[in-house]
Amino acid sequence: MTATNRQILLASRPVGEPSVDNFRLVETPLPSLADGQVLVRHHYLSLDPYMRGRMNDSKSYAEPQPLDEVMIGGTVGEVVESRNDRFEVGDTVVGMGGWQEFQVADGQPGQLRKVDTTHIPPQAYLGAVGMPGITAWYGLTQIIDPKPTETVVVSAASGAVGSVVGQLAKERGARVVGLAGGPEKCRYVVGELGFDACIDYREHPDVRSLSAALKTACPNGIDGYFENVGGIILDAVMLRSNAFSRIAMCGMIAGYNGEPTPMQIPALILINRMTIRGFIVSEHMDFWPEALKELGSLYAAGRLRYRESIAQGLESAPEAFLGLLKGRNFGKQLVKLY
Ligand SMILES: NC(=O)c1ccc[n+]([C@@H]2O[C@H](COP(=O)([O-])OP(=O)(O)OC[C@H]3O[C@@H](n4cnc5c(N)ncnc54)[C@H](OP(=O)(O)O)[C@@H]3O)[C@@H](O)[C@H]2O)c1
Repeated sequence: MTATNRQILLASRPVGEPSVDNFRLVETPLPSLADGQVLVRHHYLSLDPYMRGRMNDSKSYAEPQPLDEVMIGGTVGEVVESRNDRFEVGDTVVGMGGWQEFQVADGQPGQLRKVDTTHIPPQAYLGAVGMPGITAWYGLTQIIDPKPTETVVVSAASGAVGSVVGQLAKERGARVVGLAGGPEKCRYVVGELGFDACIDYREHPDVRSLSAALKTACPNGIDGYFENVGGIILDAVMLRSNAFSRIAMCGMIAGYNGEPTPMQIPALILINRMTIRGFIVSEHMDFWPEALKELGSLYAAGRLRYRESIAQGLESAPEAFLGLLKGRNFGKQLVKLY
């Protein structure tokens, strides 16, 4: 086995759009394990929009990513050496191993989670049956809570979170309309994920045009909106929202590089007696078992579909991450490390 680890560190903080120069690839020797420690070889790294926020040194719900340290990130891999009774060589484990090929873990409870790959491929635990899937489940079931007669709209509909939101809403009998960037993504959202309709928001550069497209796709108005994007998409949805509609504020990726994402007519919240609730999935760990149970069962029954964009090798992670922030990913963005 190689005694060297390759890691990607945050080298500098971006101003506006990040670039590959904000990252640095380094090689470091792997230390020998102390009692209780576990060496994990990462097979996949998850790239997620929240990482953009961590690159800033500003007040948020989480601490900033420190400079010159390994970039934060979810990983799935295999135990290759263990001095911890709870882990055996060959175990598949999920954790926050970061942008690196190996991780030396202390094996503390909660740091590494053993997963069963008999029916679910390991990388799905970073996507539909992992944090993004649970995010979809929480926002849909705990905030939107759709009834079978209702209409749910979801933005970034072909992505890791959005694709699961729509399928869970269909399971509950709702009419589901997606918003995605480009005709290929829209065809996939309707044809493979089973949404009732999908709007290519790039064909509607202003609120009036997007709101007209939503009126056609949602003839009974909008009862629930799963917000992943912000900007004019939010405004257009609010114009079509029904009384007592609910918005699950999950993400506002259109503003992650500092672009303004104003809300044009906040009075609609009052006029429509809307509930708008933000949430951070890691603050609701008590719901994770219930969510994982439904997501795992749906996956095993062939009723939870998802797509992956897989970049090859650690060195490809910065470019793939920049692409994710521009919609160049199609489905869950992963990096294959081994
Ligand atoms: N609150 C939480 O706990 C939590 C947890 C996980 C994720 N999230 C949020 O959920 C959202 C989706 O995350 P994900 O992991 O599923 O990512 P994703 O949807 O797989 O990928 C991001 C997608 O966002 C869309 N996008 C990027 N820039 C955009 C822009 N300027 N305008 C419109 N769309 C844009 C692109 O899709 P198109 O090509 O279709 O535009 C891109 O593919 C993000 O906002 C993320 O921050 C929140």
